[in-house]
Amino acid sequence: MDGTLGAGGHALALLEATAPDGELLGLDADPAALEIARQRLTAYSNRVHFVNANFAELGEIAPALGFSPVHGVLLDLGLSSSELETAARGFSLQVEGPLDMRHDPASSTSAHYLVNNLAQDELANLLYRFGEERRSRGIARAIVSSRPILTTIQLADVVSRAAGGRRGARIHPATRTFQALRIAVNDELGALTRALPAATGLLTPGGRLAVISFHSLEDRIVKEFFNRESRDCICPQGPYMLPCTCDHHATLHIIAKKPIIASALEIATNSRARSAKLRVAERKET
Ligand SMILES: C[S@@+](CC[C@H](N)C(=O)[O-])C[C@H]1O[C@@H](n2cnc3c(N)ncnc32)[C@H](O)[C@@H]1O
Repeated sequence: MDGTLGAGGHALALLEATAPDGELLGLDADPAALEIARQRLTAYSNRVHFVNANFAELGEIAPALGFSPVHGVLLDLGLSSSELETAARGFSLQVEGPLDMRHDPASSTSAHYLVNNLAQDELANLLYRFGEERRSRGIARAIVSSRPILTTIQLADVVSRAAGGRRGARIHPATRTFQALRIAVNDELGALTRALPAATGLLTPGGRLAVISFHSLEDRIVKEFFNRESRDCICPQGPYMLPCTCDHHATLHIIAKKPIIASALEIATNSRARSAKLRVAERKET
């Protein structure tokens, strides 16, 4: 199962690796991404099931379509190049577009709503929590006093002035604000938190769960989930203090203790791989 089809790059590799019979369930919350993947994977259409859905629902969707158990689940988090480069989606702080940032255009909350309606304190907390933005209070104050803010560039300018970016800084001063809004708009951490146990529950023994994350908040959720699920006892007093009262049994075996990162060569040809971290765990026999 590929929970984040995007442009279908990983799906294509999975289909080729599992030829001639492997079947793939591919999800994406974004109907435009699903269309791109569908076209790219035309040659394999008899082996792919495309579903426009949030991967938070995979625990219900997969069994309903006969994908239970599965041999592997991949989540390649975040946004696709196409979403980032399409100005009208409002994900990029480099191109003028509406403040949207929804993966699923049918969902109700857009970045425009949050930017123009949240109370100053709520906005500051959101920027601090989801963007780890140290200047959250000043940025929230500037946003509230500049309302209405209608476009990505307008927001990027307001934030840049409030954050007073350092000259030569590696990232744009509004990067953290845009990350925070995108995470909140799509409830990205909530979806991941729901998907991990559901994906684990679908795996056949020996099946693998692979997650690629692009920022520390996501990676922490995956790391902590893998750590907990690879331990037989999760009693708060620690595993060596008998008697164990939690009755927890490890369901996963961690394949790589450290996250797998892109090589210098890959980063040279694909700069977006720079912050990618891949964690992989294997389902244990029960
Ligand atoms: C990094 S891209 C995936 C790229 C893909 N692996 C490829 O090879 O082309 C992430 C994709 O996940 C989708 N996405 C993000 N959050 C999602 C969620 N909660 N449920 C389903 N799809 C999601 C986005 O719409 C985007 O298309």
